[in-house]
Amino acid sequence: MEDAYLLSGDSLNRTEMNKRPYRYDIINFLLSSFTRKTTYLEIGVRNPNDNYNKIMADVKYSVDPGVEFKENPVDFKMTSDAFFERLRNGEHIDRNIRFELIFIDGLHLADQVDRDIEHALAFLKDDGFLVMHDCNPPTEWHARETHGFEFSPAGPQWNGSTWKAFLKARYRTDISSCCIDTDWGVGIISKHINLGATPTIGNPFYEFYLLDKHRKEMLNLLDFERFQQLISKESH
Ligand SMILES: C[S@@+](CC[C@H](N)C(=O)[O-])C[C@H]1O[C@@H](n2cnc3c(N)ncnc32)[C@H](O)[C@@H]1O
Repeated sequence: MEDAYLLSGDSLNRTEMNKRPYRYDIINFLLSSFTRKTTYLEIGVRNPNDNYNKIMADVKYSVDPGVEFKENPVDFKMTSDAFFERLRNGEHIDRNIRFELIFIDGLHLADQVDRDIEHALAFLKDDGFLVMHDCNPPTEWHARETHGFEFSPAGPQWNGSTWKAFLKARYRTDISSCCIDTDWGVGIISKHINLGATPTIGNPFYEFYLLDKHRKEMLNLLDFERFQQLISKESH
């Protein structure tokens, strides 16, 4: 017997997977907006053919402890916390490095993503961009904390609780943010460009039903065309 709830999850998965552009199209669009050489950092790589190898930056660095992809062909085989600590201490690359773009796609739990945002902002150029994957989970099953539960309407899809860290950043007034409505929600954070207002609706306990009810405003959901217009108005 088919369960309507399971079927609705399946349909939402297909809808999301049919959306375009992909995360790497957005990252490459942002990198191409700079008229200087670009330096890129990816936190959480898994199979580099899925994203990292498609990125067109002049200098690229990758960080992953190798939890999901055993080959793990990255520059820094460690967690993001260890990477940033060593970077602060100047142990592996120049501590004065500042990136044009940092892609945060490591461990998808809110407290970790919150730390990744904080650490990444410190190493981002003033006109650089933070890009975050999985900010717009279609259901609370997709937003579950435990990756392993596959017998739910989300099936194998997992966005984790990344959305909470992104929403926390959305309430800050020293940075500006939006979420492109594609590829499970591609969050963008800038210290420099006004990407839209902070949410007027609160969500002090980070409850999924409130996100679901107000997701357009809470996440500042934009389509890619509108986002391109916003970025094109600015020159680097
Ligand atoms: C969703 S995958 C990355 C996908 C890739 N960025 C892409 O766009 O195709 C998440 C990756 O984060 C890695 N990871 C897990 N815990 C991590 C941590 N604490 N710090 C950095 N990466 C972590 C996993 O090993 C996994 O390869």
